[in-house]
Amino acid sequence: MLKLLVAVAFLFGVAAAGNFSKDVTINWGNGNGKILDGGKTVSLNLDKSTGSGFESNYEFLYGRFDVQMKLVPNNSAGTVTTFLDPQMASQGNSHDEIDLEFLGNASGQPYTLHTNIFAKGVGNREQQFRLWFDPTVAFHTYTIIWNSQRIIILVDNRPIRVFNNNEAKGVAFPNNQTMKVYASLWNADDWATQGGQVKTDWSKAPFTAYYRNYNADGCVVSASGNSCTNSTAGNQAWKTQGLDANGRKWIRWAQDKQMIYNYCTDAKRFPKPPGFPKECGLPRF
Ligand SMILES: *[C@@H]1O[C@H](CO)[C@@H](O)[C@H](O)[C@H]1NC(C)=O
Ligand SMILES: *[C@@H]1O[C@H](CO)[C@@H](O)[C@H](O)[C@H]1NC(C)=O
Ligand SMILES: *[C@@H]1O[C@H](CO)[C@@H](O)[C@H](O)[C@H]1NC(C)=O
Ligand SMILES: *[C@@H]1O[C@H](CO)[C@@H](O)[C@H](O)[C@H]1NC(C)=O
Ligand SMILES: *[C@@H]1O[C@H](CO)[C@@H](O)[C@H](O)[C@H]1NC(C)=O
Repeated sequence: MLKLLVAVAFLFGVAAAGNFSKDVTINWGNGNGKILDGGKTVSLNLDKSTGSGFESNYEFLYGRFDVQMKLVPNNSAGTVTTFLDPQMASQGNSHDEIDLEFLGNASGQPYTLHTNIFAKGVGNREQQFRLWFDPTVAFHTYTIIWNSQRIIILVDNRPIRVFNNNEAKGVAFPNNQTMKVYASLWNADDWATQGGQVKTDWSKAPFTAYYRNYNADGCVVSASGNSCTNSTAGNQAWKTQGLDANGRKWIRWAQDKQMIYNYCTDAKRFPKPPGFPKECGLPRF
């Protein structure tokens, strides 16, 4: 299952805008994915025959990844649009993944932003959010900051989720394998919208999502080496980034007011013993 990794830049005003022609490769879709405007925009189409997607040309071990997206408008039921689904380069049973998936809906009904974090093969860390704007009307910025201490997910520069490195307390954290950025638009009408009850309306196809201002300010790993020494852009402020007072204010707001599902409160899913995953008992931020 492909997912979405999105990164947003310009928080510190120094990062260069990426160029899709240089930074990514359309990796599936039989012509349904296109790089437009001299590398400034990507459009992904979904029709009955196939969805489409792109992946970053580089693999990263940590970084800040930003992208702006405009999602499928109107009746998007059954569709899933993703960004920064850094599906780990290392597949197999120890893979890592940070997911942002936008679950479409019937006309006039809200999208769901579905997030998950896999560390060393273990996922089941879903948190879902309602956005506080209509993500189909204009471009909005989606960001993942991934450093050795934490993962922060931001929407329009507001942190909505943080996953701390608690490896010392026995919680796996993605810190020893590179990831690529994957973005995609695909049909998931067996589960995505209202639990699979609302199907994709193919009479409205093709469905289109747009991406622009991709920026990966990360450590690039080349074929010859595996060290985190190079940044594609920017000042690497993400390397030590945490939450300041303002960030804590926004994440509290997002988690209290915008979150519609949290695995850490789903007791049915995690009966005792052993009960909830360990991180659920640790400080939230
Ligand atoms: C992006 O890169 C391509 C390929 O190198 C180049 O042709 C294009 O002019 C670049 N676009 C911009 C906006 O710099
Ligand atoms: C969305 O639906 C409205 C009403 O049916 C229509 O007027 C509009 O053109 C549609 N927008 C897009 C982008 O398809
Ligand atoms: C990362 O660590 C996990 C767990 O210790 C291990 O299974 C995996 O092979 C490691 N990956 C790499 C690339 O070293
Ligand atoms: C779609 O809209 C319904 C009704 O407002 C809502 O319950 C649901 O969470 C929305 N999102 C998805 C992905 O089904
Ligand atoms: C950083 O990595 C990019 C992509 O591999 C490469 O083109 C560039 O020369 C590298 N820069 C430095 C300073 O190593």
